[in-house]
Amino acid sequence: MSSHPSKRDPLLRKSGPQLRNEESCAGFCKTLCVVCTIFLASAPVAAAFATLFIHFFEGGSSVLDVIFPPAASCGKRIIGYFTHWETPLVTEKQLKKLTHVVYLFANVEEDGSIKMGSDDSESRFLDMKDKARGLKSGPKIMIAIGGAANSAMYPPVVSDSGKRKKLVNSIVAFVDEHGLDGVEIWTYSFSSNKLNHSRFIRELKKELNQLKTQKKRSEDYIISLIVPLATSHLGSGYYLNEIIRDIDFLNVLTYNYNTNRNQAGPRSPLYGGLNGNIDETMQFLACKTRQPSKLNMAVPFFGTHWRDVSFASDSNVKDLFSKPNSARGFWPVRWNVLAQEGYMNETAKFDEKTKTSYIWKSGEKNFISFENERSLLEKAKYIKNHNLGGFLIWAIDQDDEDNTLLDIVSSADICSGKDKDIVEYLCV
Ligand SMILES: *[C@@H]1O[C@H](CO)[C@@H](O)[C@H](O)[C@H]1NC(C)=O
Ligand SMILES: *[C@@H]1O[C@H](CO)[C@@H](O)[C@H](O)[C@H]1NC(C)=O
Repeated sequence: MSSHPSKRDPLLRKSGPQLRNEESCAGFCKTLCVVCTIFLASAPVAAAFATLFIHFFEGGSSVLDVIFPPAASCGKRIIGYFTHWETPLVTEKQLKKLTHVVYLFANVEEDGSIKMGSDDSESRFLDMKDKARGLKSGPKIMIAIGGAANSAMYPPVVSDSGKRKKLVNSIVAFVDEHGLDGVEIWTYSFSSNKLNHSRFIRELKKELNQLKTQKKRSEDYIISLIVPLATSHLGSGYYLNEIIRDIDFLNVLTYNYNTNRNQAGPRSPLYGGLNGNIDETMQFLACKTRQPSKLNMAVPFFGTHWRDVSFASDSNVKDLFSKPNSARGFWPVRWNVLAQEGYMNETAKFDEKTKTSYIWKSGEKNFISFENERSLLEKAKYIKNHNLGGFLIWAIDQDDEDNTLLDIVSSADICSGKDKDIVEYLCV
């Protein structure tokens, strides 16, 4: 399903950051000067606004507390996955930039109970939960159940009414014990078990509603699902119209369009591509469900690297795919590694057709497809124009120490100003 970027995925060799050339520096510095002047001139106004904001949102706490994603103001989502396998602990600064944080994963056991994979995972989860709870306007906190490595466990459990009930009860007990806001079901459904998948969601919804009443909670508990990007699978493996009523949102795993070991290409193309693209998937889902506000677009905070790549010719790059059987791979590379290696600024190219960023080093025959500011802003524009629900990030603990990508995603303007379920596609 999805690859977990492994802990050992160094790039072939280090490549130091290149210097800007004189010309672009001159332009850059001039711009900087103008920006500085404007900024200085408007400082008093900004200060007045900041004061207003503080009083409005926080009842007078510090400026740092009021940073939250602007997307929240129009009901859009900035959802961050936080994993059990990466190293850095989550920070309050990161949590404030999210509307939802989802911990990956709790496992499904054979009998239908759920369990953290290890003590380390449990303490990482508790640390995340405590930090998020400690914030005044922190994100909603969710647990993801399942995961790629655990996905085989799920079909037999939901296809046995006793185990299914146990799974529902274990999830509800976990949500209650930890005071969570909701749960994400992190497994695909297939034509063989789609009826039981829908039943499971329905039963989970019912039990969570009971817990809500019991706890006198004002808001519903959240249920979200991951869904694959292939429209053929979405069509055959899901009762979408039924499921969509019981869930709050669908996290569409739109970072997986090219996981071909022998052909390099864009991992997360908005358009074009040889294996479909985000536009196709989102159009299918929006037209089918008529609820674009429930669709979130996943973006990877990791790049994907192939070696020994050859393209047919520079003038014959078809949607940025290399020749078939002309690559070896692939290796995921976290953004925090990419950023360190100086890959972000000078060496990155941008493909207009797929709207993706990449690095192609023809001498070394290395190709890396990844997200940076330019590709993320294209995706933000797409979300806004198509009135989608928001972003999903895999994963915030793969960002660099400055939270470069998270800042871009969480500050992006994705509010469309339209009624939430206006469908901005031509549906046939
Ligand atoms: C669905 O679950 C029921 C139990 O509720 C079971 O009898 C049935 O065989 C399952 N269907 C499939 C296709 O697995
Ligand atoms: C990229 O550019 C920014 C701003 O110019 C700079 O601060 C940063 O160090 C650069 N990063 C790399 C990896 O070269």
